[in-house]
Amino acid sequence: MESQSLFSGYCSNSITPLYKKIQNRLSSSSPSLAYPSCFIRSKHRVSFKLQHFPASERMRSVRRLECTNSVEKVSNVVSEKEGSQSWVKRKRLAVFVSGGGSNFRSINQACIEGSVNGDVVVLVTNKHACGGAQYASDKGIPVILFPKTKDEPGGLSSDDLVKVLRGFEVDFILLAGYLKLIPLELIRAYPRSIFNIHPSLLPAFGGKGYYGMKVHKAVIASGARYSGPTIHFVDEQYDTGRILAQKVVPVLANDTAEELAARVLQEEHKLYVEVTAALCEDRIVWREDGVPLIRSKENPEEYY
Ligand code: GRF
Repeated sequence: MESQSLFSGYCSNSITPLYKKIQNRLSSSSPSLAYPSCFIRSKHRVSFKLQHFPASERMRSVRRLECTNSVEKVSNVVSEKEGSQSWVKRKRLAVFVSGGGSNFRSINQACIEGSVNGDVVVLVTNKHACGGAQYASDKGIPVILFPKTKDEPGGLSSDDLVKVLRGFEVDFILLAGYLKLIPLELIRAYPRSIFNIHPSLLPAFGGKGYYGMKVHKAVIASGARYSGPTIHFVDEQYDTGRILAQKVVPVLANDTAEELAARVLQEEHKLYVEVTAALCEDRIVWREDGVPLIRSKENPEEYY
């Protein structure tokens, strides 16, 4: 069963300090409630929505938080009808790539066409001349180099990357074929907000060394009859964060790694757009045991 609380608030200035205050207050009382979703309802009014799954019965409460400059007041008030999300804030996305960036392109396209309630506001790459970076430049999306290496001396340090992403007011980070390990500084700065797509059904065929064609060759060599993309939260290691979404793709008897890769990639594009749409509509919820689920758009009572 799901339980939700809504904090509504009025704020005369930027919502960021208000969000931080609420986050601090929640994390001291219950760590699982530490990351509220934020919605803008009007210029001076914001709401914070919390979602979790208690074992007991369905509960719902709404609390109103009034914020006038530094003075704030919290009081319990009446419940509010679920599902009215017309005021969900448009999200700001950073995409990280190292190669051609076909996933990045399909996400950006979906943002432009309106099927995703967000915008790619910055592209991060470790290879300034990769296809993804070139596409971003053509589209007028700022490109940032990370990390600093011998080949890319203009790259940023981890701390500077965090500062720059904060400057862009990034809500979510989407890794799409980015081959470098994500530094701890970034993971700490963006808790539960960094995602990766991997071209196999994790936890199989994941971890250090499983990238590109190596993944598909290993799948074929194992005799597995099914493969497919996984989207997962990012932690300090390769491919070990919580699984959020998967799609099954058949492995055919005569498949080459390239043929399987192409079939999986087609599904990657659809899955990453679907998941990004869900993220940008605040449809990710956390089951009590820590498993993230996606709330169905068509039927808000269903999760997958
Ligand atoms: C995809 O197969 C993805 O699963 C993996 O890297 C590849 C990136 O492809 N992490 P593209 O650059 O999006 O075309």
